[in-house]
Amino acid sequence: MARYGILTSGGDCPGLNAVIRGIVLDSDTGLNDFTYVGFKDGFWGLVYGETINLDRSAVRGISKEGGTILGTSRFGPYTEPDGGPDNIKKALERIGVDGVIAIGGDGTMAAANRLYEDGIPTVGVPKTIDNDLEATDYTFGFNTAVEIATEAVDRLRTTGNSHKRCMVLEVMGRHAGWIAMYSGLAGGAHAILIPESPESVDQICAWVTSVRDRGRAPMVVVAEGFTFPGMEEAHSHKGLDGFNRPRLGGIGEILAPIIEERTGIETRATVLGHIQRGGVPSAWDRVLGTRFGFAVPELIADGGWGQMLALRGTDIVRVPFADAVGHTKTVPLDFYGEARAVFG
Ligand code: F6P
Repeated sequence: MARYGILTSGGDCPGLNAVIRGIVLDSDTGLNDFTYVGFKDGFWGLVYGETINLDRSAVRGISKEGGTILGTSRFGPYTEPDGGPDNIKKALERIGVDGVIAIGGDGTMAAANRLYEDGIPTVGVPKTIDNDLEATDYTFGFNTAVEIATEAVDRLRTTGNSHKRCMVLEVMGRHAGWIAMYSGLAGGAHAILIPESPESVDQICAWVTSVRDRGRAPMVVVAEGFTFPGMEEAHSHKGLDGFNRPRLGGIGEILAPIIEERTGIETRATVLGHIQRGGVPSAWDRVLGTRFGFAVPELIADGGWGQMLALRGTDIVRVPFADAVGHTKTVPLDFYGEARAVFG
């Protein structure tokens, strides 16, 4: 009987528990002779061999729960002094685990790929609210984040309308504008600002002014990774994360006073932050997470180490890690152009 360890790594996102449940239900079907454990807190549990037993009763009713029952972190598997392939192989041997199922975003998939290349049997499941992972049409978590951000746009519009203010909503997404695009389009924002397409202060203020001139309260959605022309990096004032990447956020607070000063329209900024990652997953994310989970045992049974599951159209497919890492899936400029044509 083979035993596999599941880990969730990087920022949490709605739908992680649905994946875990989807995988673990396999141990009760008799289809494969597999059992499962969970590594605590991402790669930390892998490095230190700290696990949680996962049987059917451990995953009962969890697909509707936000977060991850395993805990997560941005601890890297190569973090010294205890990380690295030799130590991890020893830890896996000590606890009797035959392979790793890594659920995460681009940083996690890059680490999973490295583990695989260093001889540790590893497969991947793509997750992130940012939807920025190459090789999959969608990641679970994105749909829930968009629903939450859209509700925020709707709410900001009623208060903005009442006070005739310009409302600026900053959403997450790192260097991709997917959450901003979808929530902005769904909420009928008058301008959507994304990292893929820098926009000048003059242009943004022209959109805001034209909205005001026809008697409406301007609604601007800005992605945290948005830059003005000439800015080399996205705004970051909170240092680096555990994967050594700049922590983004704060551009909305910079933009709002500029709009107010240039246009004379009272402007308020809201940074939605981690609200986008918390709480119950949407039905869509639960279904996608569950389908990914169901597909993992089959992937392992077929010896699919070194591969990540992906959604292509409505199919769950398998792709090599190498196809998923190293580049960000950004919003296509023609898609942005369709929306931009009616800004203001
Ligand atoms: O990748 C998911 C994400 O929520 C990004 O959108 C955001 O930039 C980042 O994680 C925030 O990370 P943390 O939870 O470490 O503040």
